[in-house]
Amino acid sequence: MKPWIVGNWKMNTDSASGAALASAIAAGAAAVSTRAQLGIAPPLPYLSLIRSALGSAPVDLGAQNCHEAKSGAFTGEASAGMLRDIGATFVILGHSERRQLFHEGEARLRSKVLAAVGAGLKVIFCVGETLAERDENRHEELVRYQTHIGLSGLNASTLSSMTIAYEPVWAIGTGRTATPQQAGEMHAVIRSQLSKSFGPNVAQQTRILYGGSVKADNAAELLKTPGIDGALVGGASLDAGSFLAIAAAAP
Ligand code: PGA
Repeated sequence: MKPWIVGNWKMNTDSASGAALASAIAAGAAAVSTRAQLGIAPPLPYLSLIRSALGSAPVDLGAQNCHEAKSGAFTGEASAGMLRDIGATFVILGHSERRQLFHEGEARLRSKVLAAVGAGLKVIFCVGETLAERDENRHEELVRYQTHIGLSGLNASTLSSMTIAYEPVWAIGTGRTATPQQAGEMHAVIRSQLSKSFGPNVAQQTRILYGGSVKADNAAELLKTPGIDGALVGGASLDAGSFLAIAAAAP
């Protein structure tokens, strides 16, 4: 499996700059496609626009969140089916900003995972500890728990829709990355939890991305670490050159 390099644009760009960014990524995608699979998750209002800007370029299109219900009186929300309908193929769920700022807990996230998989979307499910949790030496236990609960309604056959992203909260947007050793250790913890819950085959076949201040200059070292199967990139994905350079750094 090629590493998956996914850009999480968060709440950035406008229609003109978003389309320009997507076009620039599309233009460079073929050159890196032997090394990595690319994906981008632009802000919701621009998904259709960005889909057109990508054209037939080999870049997956995804959303940053979805609601767990199919439809109904949920002002301001979008369902997984709606995302699929406008051409998204994946959704990021459980990002620490959603967990912290929008108080999304494990039970809610589990419902969202089931809804997204049910609608035919791939899911990038984010897990990761805060600095306080690491200092208290609770990081392994916490990430095991998040992985276990988030995926608990799935069976081994639907697990092929799942990608996990290990994103230590202290490394997101801070310029401070986990060392390859720290990331590698946590990826092994996640994989061992997957093995415990779903068996060794699923554990081996599930991609685990690293996220948290991934940049062109640290990507090579992270991506060559055993067990790191790609990257979820925030800040550096807002510049086509840096984003493509991260993909080009894949071993
Ligand atoms: P960052 O964000 O690359 O800006 O640290 C990563 C993320 O939030 O997914």
